[in-house]
Amino acid sequence: MPTDRYVVIGHPVAHSKSPQIHTSFAEQTGQQISYTRLLAPLDGFAQTVKDFIAEGGRGANVTVPFKLEAFALATQCTPRAQAAGAVNTLKFEGVEIIGDNTDGFGLVRDLEINAAQVLRGKRILLLGAGGAARGVILPLLNAQPSELMIANRTVEKALDLAWAFQEHGPISASSFEELAGDYDVIINATSASIDARIPPVAPSLFGKQTLAYDMMYAKAPTAFMQFALQQGSQARDGLGMLVEQAAEAFYIWRGVRPQTAAVFAALRE
Ligand code: ATR
Repeated sequence: MPTDRYVVIGHPVAHSKSPQIHTSFAEQTGQQISYTRLLAPLDGFAQTVKDFIAEGGRGANVTVPFKLEAFALATQCTPRAQAAGAVNTLKFEGVEIIGDNTDGFGLVRDLEINAAQVLRGKRILLLGAGGAARGVILPLLNAQPSELMIANRTVEKALDLAWAFQEHGPISASSFEELAGDYDVIINATSASIDARIPPVAPSLFGKQTLAYDMMYAKAPTAFMQFALQQGSQARDGLGMLVEQAAEAFYIWRGVRPQTAAVFAALRE
């Protein structure tokens, strides 16, 4: 059987753990694929994809900074990619470039299955209103929380998102300063962790029952996680989300759903 080729496309991309994850999934499920990194020039994403298709590529994951360009390049997008306005998974079928977004699915699955966190009927606070936040809103609302509050430094962007998704569930927007009460789940979708900073949120938002989730991950707990732990909350980073979004992409491409626990444990080491 020929080996089907997949890549993760980004800039930079050398740090990506996706090859390790998908290679493990392929071994586990007996799928004959290769999966490598592909660095695209900042002004050459579409051409890089077209060249890869011409070489027989079957699919690609898309990472920073190309998720919006991938959305524009796709000839068809799934409803969840349309809602996210961004694509992290491409599947090549004949002349079609099918765009999907598995990030929000990965987050919700990591919360509900791996962290055993009930979302239905719970109060969720989402910090940030950029691309990362937008990508997870629809799956979070589909989990039927009692409230999804979006808070952002630039409050207009939070209001825009709440407006855009209002038909899908109980979503509202706030500045960081005006937030009150504690939340069951607080998700950090800002890019503040990259610089080891945290969004300016009051300690009173974090209760004993709160799960604080940072969509970033690092060897040590992020500054946001440390802040939450100091308030007596639980904290979790985004490594599980990374593995779960990959598992969903693998399922889209291969029609087989891999087990994620062993891959997660290996990455954590
Ligand atoms: P991404 O694709 O990672 O979401 P983005 O679209 O540039 O990146 O969005 C970055 C998000 O992080 C925004 O919500 C940004 O807030 P603003 O909209 O006010 O710029 C937020 N952010 C970045 N650094 C932050 C910081 N130090 N404190 C609070 N919010 C921060």
